[in-house]
Amino acid sequence: MASLIDFHIKQEHIAVLTLNRPEAMNALSGPLLDELNTHLETIDNDDNIRATILTGAGEKAFCAGADLKERKEMTDMQVVRNVGKIGETICKVENMNMPVIAAINGAALGGGLELALGCDIRIAAAGAKMGLTETSLAIIPGGGGTQRLSRLIGTGHAKKLIFSAKPVRTEEALRLGIIEEIAEPDALLDAAYTLAAQIIQNGPVALKQAKTAINKGMQTDINTGLSIERLCYNETIPTDDRKEGLVAFKEKRSPIYKGM
Ligand code: COA
Repeated sequence: MASLIDFHIKQEHIAVLTLNRPEAMNALSGPLLDELNTHLETIDNDDNIRATILTGAGEKAFCAGADLKERKEMTDMQVVRNVGKIGETICKVENMNMPVIAAINGAALGGGLELALGCDIRIAAAGAKMGLTETSLAIIPGGGGTQRLSRLIGTGHAKKLIFSAKPVRTEEALRLGIIEEIAEPDALLDAAYTLAAQIIQNGPVALKQAKTAINKGMQTDINTGLSIERLCYNETIPTDDRKEGLVAFKEKRSPIYKGM
């Protein structure tokens, strides 16, 4: 059987994960989630990988969310477990120790948008539609959407999108702050690679600590956030990379960082 997730290394230090069920709009079936979790763990444990791009196969969809055909056959308890599994997978994406870029190649709906919201940065193909459509199915976003979308774009816009269940197109998504960049569909992956290539030039420990400081700091008051920032900064101080950055500056050359 074909793999449900394609995993390859684009160039040294950049991993690309592609949801590979285009015939089902890359919906999050149980087997797909299992494969995705395995790859996320592999990547997170590989010190050589410094940025990950998450995208979908085909031109129509990044991910159409939960597998609604699979869901229809589930008992209530199985649904509870399935929603939990989707949520935990998205948390795993969010907690990866490196920047994760969502390259949204087509529709990102329900759990598909929630998955993109678990990523650090979102670049979308022009015309892609995005929405938390769950209330139209008489459920609510259960993969973190009520929390992450509200924190990203504010409660008013999040409530409008969630209560109406109405998807938006890329221009509106950019205006609202759901995505950070739009690319032409055939230039989407290159845009993601370009950003990832820029990111991986920087210190890996610094990237991890900057991500932690932002993610943890945004969930608390400013003084606690500033303390978190200081703790994260302190993690970079004893690294060889920090010294390499200073030496490279003095020698007017590009630094060569090793992640330690
Ligand atoms: N789960 C399982 N199968 C799905 C799916 C999902 N979430 N989304 C789409 N599919 C399947 C369709 O049933 C169809 O299968 P079929 O060929 O056996 O009929 C196939 O993928 C193609 O979908 P289709 O709707 O025909 O394609 P489209 O280009 O007209 O529309 C979408 C694409 C993504 C806009 C549309 O499929 C859609 O709205 N899907 C539901 C998204 C959603 O509400 N997700 C929220 C889950 S909480």
